[in-house]
Amino acid sequence: MEKLIIEGKTSLKGQVNISGSKNASLPIIAASLLIEGECHLKNVPQLTDVKVMSEIMERLGAKVEKKEGELKIDTSSVIEDEVPAELLGMLRASILILSPLLFRKRRAKLTLPGGCNIGKRPVDLHLKGLSEMGVLFEVNNGYIKAKIKSFLKGGDIHLNFPSVGATENLILAASVAKGETIIKNASQTPEVVDLCNFLQKAGVKIEGVGTSTLKIKGKNSLSPVTHQIIPDRIEAGTFIMMAGITGGEVLIRKAKAEHLANPISLFKSMGLQIEVEGENIFVRRSSSLKPIKVKTMPYPGFPTDLQPQLTALTCAVEGESHITETIFESRFSHIPELRKMGANIERENAKIKVKGGIPLKGTEVKAYDIRGGAALVLAGLCAEGKTHLLNSYYLDRGYEKIEEKISSLGANIKRVKGGNEDLG
Ligand code: EPZ
Repeated sequence: MEKLIIEGKTSLKGQVNISGSKNASLPIIAASLLIEGECHLKNVPQLTDVKVMSEIMERLGAKVEKKEGELKIDTSSVIEDEVPAELLGMLRASILILSPLLFRKRRAKLTLPGGCNIGKRPVDLHLKGLSEMGVLFEVNNGYIKAKIKSFLKGGDIHLNFPSVGATENLILAASVAKGETIIKNASQTPEVVDLCNFLQKAGVKIEGVGTSTLKIKGKNSLSPVTHQIIPDRIEAGTFIMMAGITGGEVLIRKAKAEHLANPISLFKSMGLQIEVEGENIFVRRSSSLKPIKVKTMPYPGFPTDLQPQLTALTCAVEGESHITETIFESRFSHIPELRKMGANIERENAKIKVKGGIPLKGTEVKAYDIRGGAALVLAGLCAEGKTHLLNSYYLDRGYEKIEEKISSLGANIKRVKGGNEDLG
């Protein structure tokens, strides 16, 4: 089994380029299914999830041309209305082909989506919203069968929770529905905004982009789009914390600091020196950091996708930090692994209590999801000795060239195929 071996106690120094956003790329690849013709996407990260999403498109009959950092997707010849279960089960975002497939084929058969095991992750909000747009569903033994009589119709939809995926699925359906759709309590993430910008370029009228109420006027045929994917704010936030936990000095380039306003203000309150200039974020830890109390919240609050990494960072901060995870009920797989490295962490339901400042020791640990794996990389960078991080393929789902980028900052990190090197 492939793994990363990280030699600890390094201060990261140098500069790193942030890649395109995974969570903007995936819905936009799905959106290309709404468009007959060739869409050209730039700044696309080379990640396993993007590869799987592209493969799903190809299985539907689309032509996908891949070039480093770019995708050309021509969906003129989409003929299928279902995708092999093993592909759909590999990532949560596969549910986003539901609306486009309904538009193109008037029916779809999907398995319930896979993805990181950070919670039950139901799709009830997707199905409830789409039912209000005329979709008929049958869900049994793990399959979703969906069909529309003749077309998707605009609806007035209120989401009980600002679900990112449900917002995206509804935006995709509304873009080609007959009439106008209102989505209330919509997710406001930069990735949802990027999807809206892509669709506006394709000819869809969308009002309220970036707010919690979207008004979308559907259009029956959309024009092919060339679009540059926004930078990955979660990768940028992860690198800020890598600089923080190692006491380093890092220039993070090609990032959008405005997408990280809440985390940056939290990191500054901990004592990290952070200066923003255009697409550059300069981070230096010049003094010891202070413990924090924070809750993960829907955007623009502190993102759940940075919670595992923050849990690791606070292990290296003297004092007691409290982190409450309000988005996913099981996003805690990194905690037992951090404890193996000597961390003093207690958990009461959604509340994580970290008694930081105890030096961490390298050992063998396992990743169980993308961001949990990133948390263990942070811990390995500041631990004494070597950390063997198993299941490192999780990292490749969300971080492009992770070990090259970290090595270029002076860390000793290498990828080995399985193997039985001792911990020496
Ligand atoms: C997206 O997942 C992201 N994934 C996640 O990033 C991110 O953590 C999450 O949004 C943040 O909300 C992609 O964009 C591909 P949700 P998504 O729908 O859409 C519940 C990463 O590491 N819910 O906003 O699946 C759900 O169970 C990944 O990059 C319902 O109850 O997230 C969860 O508790 C991990 N019913 C909460 O809402 C539904 O129908 C937030 O889920 C949908 C969601």
